[in-house]
Amino acid sequence: MKRKPDDAFMDSIRIQGGIALQGKVRIQGSKNASLPVLAATLLTGEGSFIRNCPRIADVHSMVSLLKSLGCIVYWQERGIFVDSSNVRKGVMPREAVTGMRSSLCLLGALLGRCGEVNMEHPGGCVIGERPIDLHLSALKQMGVAFSEEKGQLKAVAERLHGAYIVLPFPSVGATENIILAGVAAEGETILEGAAREPEVLTLCRYLNCCGACIEGAGSSKIVIRGGRRLCGTEFRVQADRIVAGTYLLGCIGAGGSVFLEQAPAEEMEAVLLAAEEMGGRVCISREGIYVQAPERPLPVKLVTSPYPGFPTDLQSMALAVETKGSGCTSIEETIFENRFRILGDLKKMGAHIEQTDCGRVTVQGVEALHGTKVEAGELRGGAALVIAGLMAEEETLVGGCSYIYRGYENICRDFRELGARVTSV
Ligand code: UD1
Repeated sequence: MKRKPDDAFMDSIRIQGGIALQGKVRIQGSKNASLPVLAATLLTGEGSFIRNCPRIADVHSMVSLLKSLGCIVYWQERGIFVDSSNVRKGVMPREAVTGMRSSLCLLGALLGRCGEVNMEHPGGCVIGERPIDLHLSALKQMGVAFSEEKGQLKAVAERLHGAYIVLPFPSVGATENIILAGVAAEGETILEGAAREPEVLTLCRYLNCCGACIEGAGSSKIVIRGGRRLCGTEFRVQADRIVAGTYLLGCIGAGGSVFLEQAPAEEMEAVLLAAEEMGGRVCISREGIYVQAPERPLPVKLVTSPYPGFPTDLQSMALAVETKGSGCTSIEETIFENRFRILGDLKKMGAHIEQTDCGRVTVQGVEALHGTKVEAGELRGGAALVIAGLMAEEETLVGGCSYIYRGYENICRDFRELGARVTSV
């Protein structure tokens, strides 16, 4: 029998729109929690088993990176075993680093483990400049010296030490790097202005399970007492709040009612509030989140902001939903500058959107969107185009889907479970 190719290896997604969603879907493990925890396994020099990691491109890249550093790494069911006892040198291969921005959190972990790192400037989604100045200046305060040789970033810490650090902006990645370096540093690190994202809390919970002493995670002041011996452990990452939010907004846009199994409602307050403002009915249980779509999405005023605000990673999906809203919605993006790259494609589908300045759009809801050929230019924007396809009449073809598979295990399968007609081609 000829094997059907796996959805995740195809580059386009074909959607037959206009079908209300119905049913339940299990939410995959969190990408943004798994990646820093996997990086943190380096600090233990022992074996750790990280449960509930999603099988997505970014996690596969992290696995390759850890292997290239000398770790023994393998998947077991839905978890990843990492033994970092053989890591000696912090040299990261070019291909792996330029493709994935979260390789940046290996910087703090490797400095802690080896005291020296050589890496390329990290890559990631095409959503703006994404500088790393906050990472570098914080690590400098902890005794790290940086230099550049032939485009390579070289970081050396003769003696990593604690510091009093104030972040002018609560960068998630910089917070994670400071924590990773801080647990290995001598003495105490006090971090003010820390990111409060749940994924930061998860990283600290993992490290504390390994024997670290970190207090205040989840608040904007984190205190790390460094220099303790860490040991490997077994740990489970939570379900992905952004994937859950994508499917929740997909339902609000396409209509129907869905149950999001294992969705982390406690991490999704701003999103659930927005869904209710859009007219959705939301019920939370211990098993997950149930959502029922309104007749037509009500207009809202959305501003993205650091956690616990509305996440920038769900802004494009909310925008797609409001293209068929019953009024005029305004959306302000305050975190990343290039998050409105999907405007052209949404307009091609019949949406009325006006960009008033680089960080702000107004959307006048229309009665119908029309299917056409569109192109994913980045991870979250790509997922938003799939949602627009579900909402549109006729057929939509979304190209460039390798971006989407960086964050979604199988978005086609998941929407099919909810009754949508979605295939990868
Ligand atoms: C993480 C998430 C990403 C999410 C983002 C914001 C991971 C793997 N990725 O990305 O999904 O969209 O948080 O919630 O967890 N900045 C600087 N200088 C720096 C660092 C950041 O100016 O040194 C700026 C960025 O350009 C951006 C803003 O700060 O405008 C937020 O970045 P940051 O919080 O660091 O995001 P990431 O950790 O890259």
